[in-house]
Amino acid sequence: MQLKNDLLLRVARGEKAERTPVWLMRQAGRILPEYRKVRESIKDFKVLVKTPALATEVTLQPVDILGVDAAIIFSDILVIPEAMGLPYEMEESKGPVFPKKISAPEDIKNLRIAEAGDLQYVLDAIALTKRELNGRVPLIGFAGAPWTIFSYMIEGKGSKTFSAAKKVLYTQPEFAHRLLSMITESTIHYLKGQIKAGADIVQIFDSWAGILSPDQYEEFALRYISRICDAITEVPTIVFAKGAFFAREKMNEVKCNVVGLDWNMGIVESRELLPGKVLQGNLDPCALYGTIGDVERETKKMLHAFGRERHIANLGHGLYPDTEVDKVKCFIETVKSF
Ligand code: CP3
Repeated sequence: MQLKNDLLLRVARGEKAERTPVWLMRQAGRILPEYRKVRESIKDFKVLVKTPALATEVTLQPVDILGVDAAIIFSDILVIPEAMGLPYEMEESKGPVFPKKISAPEDIKNLRIAEAGDLQYVLDAIALTKRELNGRVPLIGFAGAPWTIFSYMIEGKGSKTFSAAKKVLYTQPEFAHRLLSMITESTIHYLKGQIKAGADIVQIFDSWAGILSPDQYEEFALRYISRICDAITEVPTIVFAKGAFFAREKMNEVKCNVVGLDWNMGIVESRELLPGKVLQGNLDPCALYGTIGDVERETKKMLHAFGRERHIANLGHGLYPDTEVDKVKCFIETVKSF
């Protein structure tokens, strides 16, 4: 299937394009009344993720309503621990919770390396979404980075400090490496499955990158991201490591096409540290709380700093649920007319 709009893919590969492509992390979600309506019709978030027709419906919403240059498959990074044998629950106000967690090396015995087929519902959602997109825009597949997934498996939920996960790195590094390797292999199988099912590009989310020291980040996080990027040769790859400003120079060596920046990372400085990469980002999602005029001004400021080439416009992290749709549309329109 020939894509009608392949801006994202061309720019990700480092090619020139007519304009800067734009999409937003968490573009499918609670900011859209259309999403909330689907979400309220079912009681559990996981039903949405596991029902391809519903996942497809909410994946397409931002393409139809917001006019973004890519769809991102509706799912969650926590499907990987579940496929490895550690199921999650999504609690309404608390976020993800794991009823069982990994506390000791012997708990690994209950885990397996996931195969793509263990996540058939995601692959089916991708195939259906590709059909419904009918070539309008590319489809982004994704997975969590091994370190971020490891953190959830050890902590059993979100955390401010991730001290339990970091404790394992300091006190049982071999155990940490064993689990990280299993997550990495599972993730490679999963991403390859997504690509076979139709994903045109994939993004790796390392949401908790910023809580590690530079040395630890290299040993326990970037090494595994690198393994994934070495294995994924079929489509372009994007690595978004939130808070890992200290790892930018090292990331230039990772075999990914695109590096995502959060809003703390200076744009000019990032260009210098990452000369070999296309950059993605990085407006502060809170900038969308300003007036329409503010949003337009802040977006243009960002666009000028990145320049017209080798940039994929996005936010510096996911959209917050209380963002007004008009502000999101203003961000997108400002990019498109730059
Ligand atoms: O539009 C998209 O970006 C695609 C869908 C998507 C979701 N989660 C859906 C979702 C993606 C790419 C994710 C990734 C994800 N999930 C990450 C990495 C990106 C990041 O934000 O750093 C992380 C850390 C998770 C884990 C997770 N899932 C948390 C912490 C939460 C609770 C917080 C919250 O936003 O509610 C979720 C739930 C979740 N995943 C929701 C959505 C739309 C909200 C739940 C709902 O609608 O009921």
